[in-house]
Parts: sequence; C-alpha cells; structure tokens
Amino acid sequence: MTRPVRLAISGASGRMGRALLHLLGEDVRFELVHAVVSPGSTHAGQPVFAGHGDSLRYAVDWTHAPALDVVIDFSGAAGLATALDHCRVCGAALVSGTTGLDAAMEVRLADAGKHIAILRAANFSLGVAVLTRLLREAAAALPDWDLEIVEAHHSRKQDAPSGTALALGHAAAAARHTALEQAAVYSREGQTGERVDGSIGFAVVRGGDIVGEHTAVLIGQGERLELGHRATDRSIFARGALQAAHWLAGHAPGHWQLDDVIATLR
Ligand SMILES: NC(=O)c1ccc[n+]([C@@H]2O[C@H](COP(=O)([O-])OP(=O)(O)OC[C@H]3O[C@@H](n4cnc5c(N)ncnc54)[C@H](OP(=O)(O)O)[C@@H]3O)[C@@H](O)[C@H]2O)c1
Repeated sequence: MTRPVRLAISGASGRMGRALLHLLGEDVRFELVHAVVSPGSTHAGQPVFAGHGDSLRYAVDWTHAPALDVVIDFSGAAGLATALDHCRVCGAALVSGTTGLDAAMEVRLADAGKHIAILRAANFSLGVAVLTRLLREAAAALPDWDLEIVEAHHSRKQDAPSGTALALGHAAAAARHTALEQAAVYSREGQTGERVDGSIGFAVVRGGDIVGEHTAVLIGQGERLELGHRATDRSIFARGALQAAHWLAGHAPGHWQLDDVIATLR
C-alpha cells in the first residue's frame, strides 16, 4: 500500500489503546481515522491527542466511522463484537488481541474469516512467538516430563489463565498429540490426589502492575527445564499489533497468524 493505512482502534483509551496511540504519534505508515471507547466511557467526545483541538475525538460506536482499512482491537468481548460487525459491513481487516472470549464469540470470529482478513494473537510480542516454538520442541522432545504453566499479570486483568498461557498450553498439547481440553488442570485445592500423567497444570498470579510473565516448567526426575518470558513494557504488544496491521491491510479474507508476519520480517 503506497498511501498510509487508514486505521481505527477499538479500546483506544485502555492500557493497550494508549500504548498504540503513543507509537502512532511517530508512525507515518498509518493514519488514525477512528478511536472507539465503551458506551459509558469518561473519554467519550474528548480529543484523542491532547492539544489537537477539534481533530479526532473518542467515539462510543462505529456510526460515524469514515472509510478505513484496518481495525486494531484491544477492548473486551463487547467491544470486539461491535468492531467485528463494523469490519464485516465495510470489509476492513481486523487485528485483535482481546482475550477471554466465550465459545459463541469464537464461532462468530471463525465465520467472519470467510469474509474479511483477521489476525488474532493472545500475545503480540516477538519473544512469546519464539517461546511458543521452543515450548513445542521441548514438549515433544520430553514427552514424559510433567508440564506446568505459570503466568502473572496486573491486578486489573479480567480473565484467567491468560490467553497467552492457554495458547502455550494448546501448543504444548498439540506437540504431544493431544488436546488441551483433555490435558488441562486449571485448579488444585484440597484432596487432589496424585498428579495425572500427561496433564498440563496452570497456576495464576495477579498483582500490582505486572505487564505479563509466562513460564513453562518441564519437570523430570532429578532435573527441570524452565522456559520463560517477561514483558516489562506494553509497547512490545502495541508494536507487534501495528506490524500485524500494516501487514494485514489489503490481504485476502481468512485467518492469519503472527507467525505469517514474522516470517516476512526475516
Ligand atoms: N494480545 C496481546 O498481546 C495483549 C496484550 C495486552 C492485553 N491484551 C488483551 O487486550 C484486552 C484489553 O486489555 P487492556 O489492558 O488494554 O484493557 P483496558 O485497559 O481495560 O482497556 C479496555 C478498553 O476497551 C474499551 N471498551 C470497553 N468496553 C468496550 C465496548 N463495549 N466497546 C468499545 N470499547 C470498549 C475501554 O473503554 P473505557 O475504559 O474508556 O470505557 C478501554 O478503552 C484484554 O482482553 C487483554 O487481555 C492482549
């Protein structure tokens, strides 16, 4: 695309939305044309960039959205649903990092991929993409070792385990030719009995301002392998989402992966 990509953000006033806006200030690849917040948001009607007078203001819906190429969504299930509806109506591509969706929303997204280009990732960091590959390899190479996934996030996070922890679990389960639905143990309390061979356990830490930490622990007899990633700055997710949005603009309908984007960066 020779002109800037016309971009809208769903969830523009949130932690991730702010990180995106911060980067967009210096990114000539994009023209921000719409910024959506929740219907009851205190940001509604306020200027998106402080000191920019009457230029772009936060909107509470997509009614007056101009023509656009891509929506980046980091909102929540309700925000993603309206963003998806708008993308389907106008044919825009959708990049979404929203996690904690229910089965019905997953079905809607799967169906929408027949009509528009969609790229979703539970984690937009390059480091986590590599961690996922390393975990696949380790889980396959050490099939009898117990696997536990530990994640930590800030105190305001709404869903648990994190979408990234679940994605790591899915990757490891697939590498061991099983499904996470069969292998996952999400909580332990009281008389749990012995650990079930082949299970994948999850542990969750919540507190303060932790941006996101994930450790996959493979535990054998007399030795232990730990593969971990720590995000200390939300800008890594925002940078990955912008890279994905720039790549996705103009792509054919379908479900695309962050790995597809990373492959073109090499
Ligand atoms: N994939 C990744 O790499 C990654 C990284 C970080 C976070 N996440 C996920 O991204 C999502 C957002 O995280 P966050 O920490 O940025 O959340 P947040 O700080 O709570 O921000 C949520 C944003 O969504 C807006 N919103 C809420 N309901 C909405 C609706 N119905 N319609 C439109 N906008 C709505 C909020 O508006 P107001 O607050 O102004 O009302 C706010 O701008 C979560 O699911 C999180 O797990 C993913």
